[in-house]
Amino acid sequence: MSSEQPSALLSAQRTDTATAVAQPNIALIKYWGKKDEHLFLPRTDSLSMTLDIFPTTTRVRLVPGAGQDTVVFNGEPATGEAERRITAFLRLVRERSGRTERAHVDTENTVPTKAGLASSASGFAALAVAAAAAYGLGLDARGLSRLARRGSGSASRSIFDGFAVWHAGHAGGTAEEADLSSYAEPVPAVDLEPALVVAVVSSAPKAVSSREAMRRTVDTSPLYEPWAVSSRADLADMRAALARGDLPAVGEIAERNALGMHATMLAARPAVRYLSPASLAVLDSVLQLRRDGVPAYATMDAGPNVKVLCPRSDAERVSAALRAAAPVEAVHIAGPGRGARLVAEECR
Ligand code: PMV
Repeated sequence: MSSEQPSALLSAQRTDTATAVAQPNIALIKYWGKKDEHLFLPRTDSLSMTLDIFPTTTRVRLVPGAGQDTVVFNGEPATGEAERRITAFLRLVRERSGRTERAHVDTENTVPTKAGLASSASGFAALAVAAAAAYGLGLDARGLSRLARRGSGSASRSIFDGFAVWHAGHAGGTAEEADLSSYAEPVPAVDLEPALVVAVVSSAPKAVSSREAMRRTVDTSPLYEPWAVSSRADLADMRAALARGDLPAVGEIAERNALGMHATMLAARPAVRYLSPASLAVLDSVLQLRRDGVPAYATMDAGPNVKVLCPRSDAERVSAALRAAAPVEAVHIAGPGRGARLVAEECR
């Protein structure tokens, strides 16, 4: 018996308690920079692959009569920024549902948090799906994607299986129109058997949050606008490469897009640099793999960790090369994974 049902189906049911699982996604065309910080509207479209590793499991239970929301994160009461973001998200869900009950949220996250490993993507995708079901919002997948976006932009893409594109939408018109305009949806990809080999250079939390780094880059980097323009062209090329199943082209476009994003940050004032000497050593090993005939391409997010796209059949070889390149904490091999979904309570 399957313990899982499509999220859109189950979120239409009103249960008062719901549990959802979501996995992180890694962008091949990056989201970097907002045009509306409150609504989480990005400046450019982005495209990602949802992974089949690092699940986050989140349970939302409405507690009639409770005076406030409570949040448990990996077995400990959540504090500070994490608690603030989760309770702000619950307020938004309550506003939409017209219900007033506070909630108890229990979340187990297997991704190292704030290390550029997309923990907020899986975290807010799982929370959006569970909270929408518990409060009876009745959202379809697109609606869940919009809602997840309000917790963390990249979470909008983890609603979907495999490859997804997140539309930047438009900031004009009413806030509601702007909100409706920005969501992710699946992207067709043919005959691709990719692996994403994740080299965990450091799982320590980053010194500068992606929110602050994006803001600083947009406000001060002379390279930001040129990158945004080239990223739009990269997206068109990427869609074409996915549609024809051309993995080396997908990798090449992803790598240039990510390096460009890091260039925008290096040119910010003051500069933001997430890549460490170990990250660069891993990037060198990717170049060496290509010289040796392995179609391996790197992408990096707001942290020192490097993710390497390659054919599934080369994943073990790539993994060994990355381990040998630098003193990495761990190397994980991921494939395309499933989008966020509700899971049955009794199967937890
Ligand atoms: O985690 P967020 O939503 O604050 O954004 C992170 C953005 C990058 O991971 C650097 C790029 C992306 O598109 O995921």
